[in-house]
Amino acid sequence: MTSSPDIERIKGRPVTVIGFMGSGKSTVGRLLADKLQREFVDLDELLEQEQHATVAELFVTLGEDGFRRAESELLKRALSAGPRVLAAGGGAPCFFDNLDQMLAQSVVVGLHTDVEQILERVGAGAGRPLLAGVQDKRAEVERLLAKRAPFYERAHLTVETSGRAPSQVVTAILGGLDTP
Ligand code: S3P
Repeated sequence: MTSSPDIERIKGRPVTVIGFMGSGKSTVGRLLADKLQREFVDLDELLEQEQHATVAELFVTLGEDGFRRAESELLKRALSAGPRVLAAGGGAPCFFDNLDQMLAQSVVVGLHTDVEQILERVGAGAGRPLLAGVQDKRAEVERLLAKRAPFYERAHLTVETSGRAPSQVVTAILGGLDTP
């Protein structure tokens, strides 16, 4: 676990959960929100509701560039909509000034997961256009992780999820956030 944002930092601010696909952001984010008695918002789900299309469909209709613009616009609205727990899509911190905005306006919790667990959790890549049609998923996950690590590493707090149940991850996050 890296540096601990103190209680003053989390008060009144959103918490943004980031990490690679399959790191458990939605499951952990939802549980964390319960513990903090806050509303939970999965940004991919909200984007799908607003756009009346799945993420996979948006990659086709808007292209990845258009998806990233829509994702960024939604993230910025979400960050200024009160102290909720947000789960960001895996790529969100790695585009535009998204991560700077997350860091400035929320407490950013990074979930770290090893490649084996990511591959297990994403399976065939259903619903994940960056992996769905890829033959060598391990190579692609490793390539993307190497590119994204410098972004994920800037989270205020990073928690290991490999080999841990979601409830254990949440306990580790709460310990790191120093909440009462
Ligand atoms: C993406 C991750 C996905 C989704 C989209 C792109 C990425 O979210 O936003 O498929 O670039 O890593 P999850 O991390 O929730 O799977």
